[in-house]
Amino acid sequence: MPPLSSCFNIEDFRQTAKKRLPRMIFDYIDGGADDEVTLHRNQNSFSKFQLMPRVLRDVGDIDLSTTVLGQKIDLPIIIAPTGQTRMFHHTGETAVARAAAKAGTIYSLSSVSSTSIEDTAKASDGPKWFQIYVWRDREVTREFMARCRESGYHALCLTVDLPVHGNRERDLRNNLTFPASLTPKTVADVLCHPRWLYHYLTEPKIEIANVTGSSHGDVSDEGGLLDYITRQFDPTVNWDDVAWMIEQWDGPFLIKGIVNPEDAKLAVELGVDGIVISNHGGPQLDFTPPTIEVLAEIAQAVDGRAEIILDSGLRRGTDVIKALALGATAVMIGRPYLYALAAGGEAGVDRMFELLRSEINRDMALLGCTKISDLTPDFIHRP
Ligand SMILES: Cc1cc2nc3c(=O)[nH]c(=O)nc-3n(C[C@H](O)[C@H](O)[C@H](O)COP(=O)(O)O)c2cc1C
Repeated sequence: MPPLSSCFNIEDFRQTAKKRLPRMIFDYIDGGADDEVTLHRNQNSFSKFQLMPRVLRDVGDIDLSTTVLGQKIDLPIIIAPTGQTRMFHHTGETAVARAAAKAGTIYSLSSVSSTSIEDTAKASDGPKWFQIYVWRDREVTREFMARCRESGYHALCLTVDLPVHGNRERDLRNNLTFPASLTPKTVADVLCHPRWLYHYLTEPKIEIANVTGSSHGDVSDEGGLLDYITRQFDPTVNWDDVAWMIEQWDGPFLIKGIVNPEDAKLAVELGVDGIVISNHGGPQLDFTPPTIEVLAEIAQAVDGRAEIILDSGLRRGTDVIKALALGATAVMIGRPYLYALAAGGEAGVDRMFELLRSEINRDMALLGCTKISDLTPDFIHRP
């Protein structure tokens, strides 16, 4: 297995993760919906935007810090929420939260995490957001908010692009269930990854930690997580619920999963503090536009009335710079840190942050910028 020191970019982490994980688990991270058109376009679209450097500008001292929803962070990269992270490495959410704190940035915990709100808070005193889905039983949502407040989570982030689960055919082909079941079809795959199997069998069972033990905690039916989502998440959620949640939470509130400028306007009118432009990284509706392509239009629609975070497809320091130049306050990443976690646990995520930080530092210098607020659309060239 290649050592972490031989990973120099996100693709290197991805290749290492591919070797370390059973195929069905790797594909769950890596895959997209239907024909995976959005999945691939998310990444490729960044190359349509070129960078137009300025020279002779004294770039001896670069500062990558910025402020998001009132919190100062050292790097404009936020950890996106991902469910069931302990499937990818036994140290899961707590390892990533610690690495984010060391990097001086925000960790977002998923509603369907494999570590609870309280345990994640105990593991790291870095800044944290909680990503929320709306359960059919609104009491669950209300309880989550109370628990987050109690544990010191700064902001609530409502994900809105999963009214139903996307069609992820890799998972169907691999017979993936949550928790992963060892069937004749998956057993050969898993046996080729004894280190993963060892931890899977010896560590505490992977569950939706935030509802374990409650009447909403039963994921054990045949359909596993997918069936659970269908049973428990409310597909009737609408803008009235958003207004209700903003009122209940009474703190910094973001909506994640917007790609349409009209929805961005509605969100702002309801009083959200932040919008995460996201297509979930491609596993939901295929043919949703790549986020970088709708950023400028959404920034115009929002007109400074809320902060904009962008995710989906960022893999390079230059991708981050392009998003910030076109109007995002910060970006989120999902798969990059999951690949790094699978490749090397907490040390893998530390190295990922180190590499991205040094890429952005170098790229800023080459672009002729010394601070995040220097980045404007003037640095973007679209022939
Ligand atoms: C394995 C996996 C699990 C995810 N789980 C969640 C989740 O529980 N809640 C959520 O809002 N988004 C979830 N997402 C979407 C991410 O938060 C983020 O939007 C996406 O990963 C960004 O694209 P990227 O992976 O190309 O960086 C998940 C993404 C992946 C790959």
